[in-house]
Amino acid sequence: MPIINRIADLHEEMTAWRRDLHAHPETAFEERWTSDYIAEKLEAFGLDEIHRGIAKTGIVAVLRNGNSEKSIALRADMDALDITEANELPYKSQIPGKMHACGHDGHSTMLMGAAKYLAETRNFDGTVYFIFQPAEENEGGGRVMVEEGLFERFPAQAVYGMHNAPGLPVGEMAMRPGPAMAGYDIFEIVVEGYGTHAARPNQGVDPVVVQAQIVLGLQTIASRNVNPVDSVVVSVTQVHGGDTWNVIPQQVVLRGTVRCFKPEVQDQTEARMRALAESIAAAHEAKATIRYERRYPPTVNDEAHMEKCAAVGRALLGGEKVSTDAPQGMGSEDFSFMLNE
Ligand code: NI
Repeated sequence: MPIINRIADLHEEMTAWRRDLHAHPETAFEERWTSDYIAEKLEAFGLDEIHRGIAKTGIVAVLRNGNSEKSIALRADMDALDITEANELPYKSQIPGKMHACGHDGHSTMLMGAAKYLAETRNFDGTVYFIFQPAEENEGGGRVMVEEGLFERFPAQAVYGMHNAPGLPVGEMAMRPGPAMAGYDIFEIVVEGYGTHAARPNQGVDPVVVQAQIVLGLQTIASRNVNPVDSVVVSVTQVHGGDTWNVIPQQVVLRGTVRCFKPEVQDQTEARMRALAESIAAAHEAKATIRYERRYPPTVNDEAHMEKCAAVGRALLGGEKVSTDAPQGMGSEDFSFMLNE
């Protein structure tokens, strides 16, 4: 039976898995229900080996066929987000405050479908590693799996991952060679002033006014410092300070994220952020302390392997359904840790 027909046969079953996973969202490194559910299915499909507990809840299942030395890894993420689901669906989230809002329930389902299909048909020659990873959102489960020896234990010659794209019509795929998704950094700036009564600002140093100028100052990194042909986003996403109407607080804390594609832009952004925050604070006799943390590297697709994916996609879906010049996105992916390795 042609691949596409057999997969179509699994549609109803896969929809049920997806809904089960959707109803039980779990976040970073706590995907225990999810991990048990997936492992149980893999067991039933007859995978040759199932390895658990990699990066706490991660799973790698192995399937071998024929004599070829060739090996590939296919990766899906399992984690959900700290979001309250507002849908009214029979399979809506049963966990308060958590939701599969990024579609990783779908990714895990797709990889389970591939495992079932390949275990059943064995129409390949070589080894396939199925990687189910935890904590893609924010916490870098992909990095932890790599650090725990993922590719020493499971020496795949290539690793493939994909993400759902609600903006694309059903049945289409989009990819691009080279830098595809941005690197992901976070920062925290603590502005230390001198708290005082709001009626006597002259007796203190107001960190609220200083942080406001720092937020505006940071806008000049993208607009005035980084080469306009390069991409960078600097977003302040949290401002914390003050407890009441009539007291100027002692400190204000800013937090946010930086996205860019090039290490030199990352270096420049961090350096400019430090200089701006420290000198703006100093100008007002306040003090700014900056913590800048590099979280995920950019996701950079190998051109030859991307071409293989595109060829498979064209064969399955038709040539016009596969785009290889998808726009770069400023979103990030911890799949980059696996690709880099
Ligand atoms: Ni995602």
